[in-house]
Amino acid sequence: MPRKLAAGNWKMNGLGAALAEVTALAERCPSPKAEVLICPPATLLSRLSAAAEGSPIATGGQDCHTATSGAHTGDISPAMLVDAGASYVILGHSERRADHGESDATVAAKTHAAWNAGLTAIVCVGETEAQREAGETLGVIQSQIASSVPDGATAASTVIAYEPVWAIGTGKVPTLKQIAEVHDALRGQLNERFGSEGNEIRLLYGGSVKAKNAAEIFAVSNVDGALVGGASLTAEDFGPIVEALD
Ligand code: G3H
Repeated sequence: MPRKLAAGNWKMNGLGAALAEVTALAERCPSPKAEVLICPPATLLSRLSAAAEGSPIATGGQDCHTATSGAHTGDISPAMLVDAGASYVILGHSERRADHGESDATVAAKTHAAWNAGLTAIVCVGETEAQREAGETLGVIQSQIASSVPDGATAASTVIAYEPVWAIGTGKVPTLKQIAEVHDALRGQLNERFGSEGNEIRLLYGGSVKAKNAAEIFAVSNVDGALVGGASLTAEDFGPIVEALD
C-alpha cells in the first residue's frame, strides 16, 4: 500500500458521462506512485468500479449505514459498497455532519461497520470558521478524533482526513503553518493512542486543494495526501494533483 493517497470525493456530482473522466485519469496517470481513489455518488459506483478495473484507481462510497441490510429506506450498507466494487468509504464528512446531524458516535458506529465489511474508512474531522477564530481548532479536532475513530484503528483500516469546514469549496486555504500545526497534533494523538500503528495511519488534508497549491500542501509535515472535492471531478484537474504526489 503506497503511503500517499489522492482521494477524490465527487459528492452529489456526476451522471453517466462522468465515467469518461475515470478512463481519462487512468490514461493520464498509468503508474502513479500514490494510491488513487475516486468516491462517486452511489448511482455511479458499480459502473465506475467496472470502468476503473485493471487501472490503479480504487473506488469508494461517500457514506454507509451501520447495518448490513434491512428496513432503512434510502441507505446503503457497507456490504453493498463492497458489492459495487468499493474498497473505501468516506465517513463523517462535515456535509453529512451538518446535513444529516451525524454525531461522532454515529461516525464511530459507521466506521466499525465499514471495517467489518472489509472497507477502509476515511474519517473526516474539521473545525468551523467560528471555532478557529475562537482558538478552539485543536481541541475540536482532537475531540472529534477521540470520539469518531474507534479503538483498534490500523493503517489498513483507517485514514483520517482533516478538512477545515471553512476551506471546503470556498477557495480559502489555511496557511501551510496552520495545516502543519493540525497534522502534527493529530499525528501525536494517533501515536499516543495507537502506538507505532498510529504513525502509519494516513492523514489527508482536504479543502480547496487544486493543482496550483497541491505540491506545497503535500510538502507539509504529516500530510500523506488529499481528499479533493471540486478538483477531482475531471481528469484535467485531478491528474496534476495525483502527479504532485509522485
Ligand atoms: O471531500 C472533499 C472536501 O470536502 C473538499 O472539497 O476540494 O471542493 O474544497 P473541495
